[in-house]
Amino acid sequence: MEIKLTNKLSKDAALVFVLNERKEIRKHGFFKFLNKEDRNYLSALEKKSAVKAGESRLIFVPSRQRALLIGIPEKSKFNHRKALLAARRVVSSARIERLAHIVVYPDDFLAQDSPGGEALAEVLATQFEIANFEFVKYKTQQPDGWFFVKKISVFSARPTLKLTQGITAGKIIGEEINEARVLSNTPGGDMTPDKLAKAAVNAGKRYKFKVKILGEKEIKKLRMGGILGVSRGSAERPHFIVIEYLKGKKEEKPIVLVGKGVTFDTGGLNLKEDEGLKEMHMDMSGGAAVIHIISALARLKAKKNIVGLVPAVENMPSGSSYRPGDLLKTMSGKTIEVLNTDAEGRIVLADALEYAKKYKPRLVIDIATLTGAAMVALGQRASAIFTTDGNLEKTLRETGEKTGDFVWPLPLWEEFEEDIKGTFGDVANTGKTKYGGAISGAVFLWQFIKAPSAGRGQAPSTGSGQVPWAHIDIAPRMTSIEGEYLAKGAVAPSVALLTHFLREFK
Ligand code: BES
Ligand code: ZN
Ligand code: ZN
Repeated sequence: MEIKLTNKLSKDAALVFVLNERKEIRKHGFFKFLNKEDRNYLSALEKKSAVKAGESRLIFVPSRQRALLIGIPEKSKFNHRKALLAARRVVSSARIERLAHIVVYPDDFLAQDSPGGEALAEVLATQFEIANFEFVKYKTQQPDGWFFVKKISVFSARPTLKLTQGITAGKIIGEEINEARVLSNTPGGDMTPDKLAKAAVNAGKRYKFKVKILGEKEIKKLRMGGILGVSRGSAERPHFIVIEYLKGKKEEKPIVLVGKGVTFDTGGLNLKEDEGLKEMHMDMSGGAAVIHIISALARLKAKKNIVGLVPAVENMPSGSSYRPGDLLKTMSGKTIEVLNTDAEGRIVLADALEYAKKYKPRLVIDIATLTGAAMVALGQRASAIFTTDGNLEKTLRETGEKTGDFVWPLPLWEEFEEDIKGTFGDVANTGKTKYGGAISGAVFLWQFIKAPSAGRGQAPSTGSGQVPWAHIDIAPRMTSIEGEYLAKGAVAPSVALLTHFLREFK
């Protein structure tokens, strides 16, 4: 979709009036730019019916084809969160009404807690992009094709370079979110570890960053017993994707992103039931996010050193599967006692987190559809964030608010380590009770970040013995919900959040 800043109300664009309940059309930013006939028409219309909050209405304006009225709450009840939703609603309504070209007035979306100007233009462009997406690749073309909005003109009487830059950046982020959604929505049979690795390689070729794929042989050489264990039951061989985007200062240590790349999670021998199973082709959403966060940063020419790691495996039950009770030796030297083969994400991430230490990173963030329990705790409107770094937590929460890619904290306390002590191995892959499953997952991962490599005499990466780290459990936001004006299926949580966060990280 084309999104362009303009200072003209071109005749072929349908006007979009986003109106709060109290605002008269006469006071709308477009009004004074319309001809007399249109103004008279709209003033007359106003007397009869403005739109109520939540309502949308198509009207016909004399001078042009169509205009769309989108009702939002009055100023005191309108905030940035609602503005993001309204932006998506505009595109969703335009699609329903088959408006190929619309023109919007950015100040319509300005709430008291909104960032203004360039920052607002940027997040709006992202919302427009993601609302215009639908996964239709596997559907037979309809006779008149799929309807998507082709162009959004963003009106400003005084267009500035800054606004244009905001729109361009926002559009890039939206496009990369959509690319990540495509990877996640693709069925498991077509999005195998090999295909996910190829997607990373292609992104690297396109946007000029380095992508290295480690095959099973190299994974064995690195003694990544976690990845080998989980992938044992599948005919698809594991891959370990290593992305290096090193465009920052030479002396600056990189930030490492680690994404869960389970391309299909059956649960293994602890087989999932029907309900839980059919969405598990999206269990590589963390890996897809890593690939497309780095693509976005490359397109935005961010001067940062970022490394992306994605252990890509399929979790299948078969005669060669890993079993409950197995003891897996990870790259760190620590052993994992497998109590449940369905808690596989943390096992493959354990090896990836150890590999991350090679880079002596200044920060590690992992992104994973790790637990159903995170959804039980938070519902489906925010990802769970775990970190011992209060500032990092605050910044990520604020970035979530800005971008609409919300995160909410859950505790990461040492007391919880009791719950995942192994009987025969160092760490058990599930908690001892049925409670606090999202926390058990996070505390498990923590064990592979906080400790220096066992038995190798390797120095820890920071004086305190812990690399700054955050774990984002994106399971709650893996798929869209009713009323958020996003297509059914994958949402690609954390792409907007972390692209913004990393761009600004000092
Ligand atoms: N991939 C799932 C978690 C998940 C569930 C993601 C629903 C998105 C939606 C993960 O591998 C898993 O199965 N976790 C188990 C852990 C349990 C066995 C300790 C879970 O959450 O039930
Ligand atoms: Zn699982
Ligand atoms: Zn899983």
